[in-house]
Amino acid sequence: MTEVAVVVDVAAAATELFIESVAGAAAARGRGAVALTGGSTAKPLHARLRTARVPWAETQVFFSDERAVPPDHELSNYRLAEEGLLRHVQVAAVHRMRGEAPDLDAEARRCAQDLRDTLGKPPRLDLMLLGLGPDGHICSLFAGVPSSADRGDEELVRHVAAPLHVEPKVDRLTMTPFLVVTARTVVLQVTGASKAEVLARALKGPEDLVACPAQWLRKASGRVVVVCDAAAASRL
Ligand code: 6PG
Repeated sequence: MTEVAVVVDVAAAATELFIESVAGAAAARGRGAVALTGGSTAKPLHARLRTARVPWAETQVFFSDERAVPPDHELSNYRLAEEGLLRHVQVAAVHRMRGEAPDLDAEARRCAQDLRDTLGKPPRLDLMLLGLGPDGHICSLFAGVPSSADRGDEELVRHVAAPLHVEPKVDRLTMTPFLVVTARTVVLQVTGASKAEVLARALKGPEDLVACPAQWLRKASGRVVVVCDAAAASRL
């Protein structure tokens, strides 16, 4: 079931969910596995998380997606997380997607194997943080791309060609929908009136996973919380 939380401070609400999810996982299983994301909502969340009471030493950090750039590049999701959060806290391990790899298909397979080696078979994330793209994408599962409708149970991580209609136009590595629908908790952060229509399509529109890959959230077996501001929620 999808919960929608309309709040004034999206980062603060997402931080609470982060603590709840990771602390619960650490207490229950001795480990919390999270996937961070990029996008504009990541920065304020990272800033909050730096001082949050999260059991970092028991937290395994993965990424929902990465751009095909080196880790010190301004477009790197890893760099965003490293500067905003990871250099300030001591996590158990950071599992970076190597956007600079010469063979991104091989890198996707390496990331998938790392997920299995760390979390078991099949791997299950405790928390997946996501943003919502203007075309209805989550992770780097872009709208209009046929493979976005493929759950990718065995694949887990895939190389996606540069999108034609979404910036930045560079290749990506992305987790597949399997990791979204099996995560124990998914938190989708959405802000601003420009996302109102696409959020409504994601949650209530006619089902078409190629046209709106964010509709994978409807198929999730875990808890899904959409944390948004009033402007983003205005069409719900
Ligand atoms: C990426 C981002 C991307 C982002 C959405 C939402 O690697 O391109 O992770 O998927 O999460 O586009 O972006 P905003 O949060 O900026 O609206």
